[in-house]
Amino acid sequence: MRIAMIGTGYVGLVSGACFADFGHQVTCVDKDAGKIAALRRGEIPIFEPGLEALVAANVTASRLDFTTDLAGPVAEAEAVFIAVGTPSRRGDGHADLSYVYAAAREIAASVRGFTVVVTKSTVPVGTGDEVERLIREANPWADVVVASNPEFLREGAAIRDFKFPDRIVVGTSEERGRKALGDIYRPLSLNQAPLMFTARRTAELIKYAANAFLATKITFINEIADLSEKVGADIQEVARGIGLDNRIGTKFLHAGPGYGGSCFPKDTRALVKIAEDHGAQLRIVESVVTVNDNRKRAMARKVANALGGNLRGKTIAVLGLAFKPDTDDMREAPSIPLITGLCDMGANVRAFDPASMKEARRELPDIDYCDDAYACAEGADALVIVTEWVQFRALDLPRLKRIMKRPIVVDLRNVYRPDEMAELGFVYSSVGRDK
Ligand code: UGA
Repeated sequence: MRIAMIGTGYVGLVSGACFADFGHQVTCVDKDAGKIAALRRGEIPIFEPGLEALVAANVTASRLDFTTDLAGPVAEAEAVFIAVGTPSRRGDGHADLSYVYAAAREIAASVRGFTVVVTKSTVPVGTGDEVERLIREANPWADVVVASNPEFLREGAAIRDFKFPDRIVVGTSEERGRKALGDIYRPLSLNQAPLMFTARRTAELIKYAANAFLATKITFINEIADLSEKVGADIQEVARGIGLDNRIGTKFLHAGPGYGGSCFPKDTRALVKIAEDHGAQLRIVESVVTVNDNRKRAMARKVANALGGNLRGKTIAVLGLAFKPDTDDMREAPSIPLITGLCDMGANVRAFDPASMKEARRELPDIDYCDDAYACAEGADALVIVTEWVQFRALDLPRLKRIMKRPIVVDLRNVYRPDEMAELGFVYSSVGRDK
């Protein structure tokens, strides 16, 4: 099938490359000429394992190309995906839909023949209705079906998530839309991924409900971790002990410094607003948002406590800045309030991250950046593990102990075991398992 993908951000680029890999003919469109020129040179603007090779292979096979021209590819496409950004609107937490609506108007002006227009961006319930209204208003003759097809990709694992999904959700009540999306996703039926057809508004809500539920699960285990510390329990074992119950499940029960990223914080806030707009209140999700924000801010205090309370003049080495491993994404990363808090308390902060140093320098310009974990730890009063990159899971601990000024480690991802750290002579604290 011929597909136009509007937006070459994270979702658009991964989805476009994967659809091309299924054998479809995909053109990715973006207004940003610099980005398109870079993509044509084979340069990928984001860090995502496997994406560069996937793009290169499909460009070479002439199934994938990039352009700033929307009209041509949309006219030729049987399916047009809208994968533009929906950032939090400044001030009120609503999702900003201006890019989605601008894309809808442009699509309306260019469609030829029957076309399925699919929103892939995370959009509030009812956005599909508005996209359809805008297209019909701009072009009453357009033969379109507007469907919702939310994505469930995790950064760092996006290609695997796309190719081996737990499910694909398609929201449209129109048979022609179901048929087209069924054809597009047919290759995944080999992986036995269930294709769930539902109504458009239901699909839109599924996306928000999924992210809010996962954010709730994380926030729940984080609160239980705080309680574990107070009662002398081990959160790793509590999580395993509850997760082995199939009704609960083991995933997303890893306690840490609070969730971040471009999705959970934005989507939980937007869901609260969606409910308010419809005269409803989501008390659980509201609490999740507040508890998580407070938690991220409280992490600096946790580090200060590990050092006896006073950080003035102390050197703190921070390992990991991205909101999670295998990405360079710093959006809403727990490292930001942590480092800001440490600096406010008078600490000198040094940091290292395998991928996000460029992004981090923009967010946190006033700290020192090091070339690796050991340069970072050299002479430090404490080491804080904030992101669980694989390379931080196998640090040369005796070496660290030798080069640090004081052997204090605060492990916010529970990468190490308290007994092994104690044996090596570290003063070690982690999440949810300190007495
Ligand atoms: C999330 C969802 O997992 C995807 O299904 C969804 O498609 C995506 O949002 C989206 O809406 O686009 P992502 O934000 O890339 O994906 O990353 P996650 O792996 O879900 O992690 C989110 C945050 O939760 C990270 O800060 C991570 O450290 C934290 N987390 C995750 C925990 O603290 N504990 C866990 O057990 C799991």
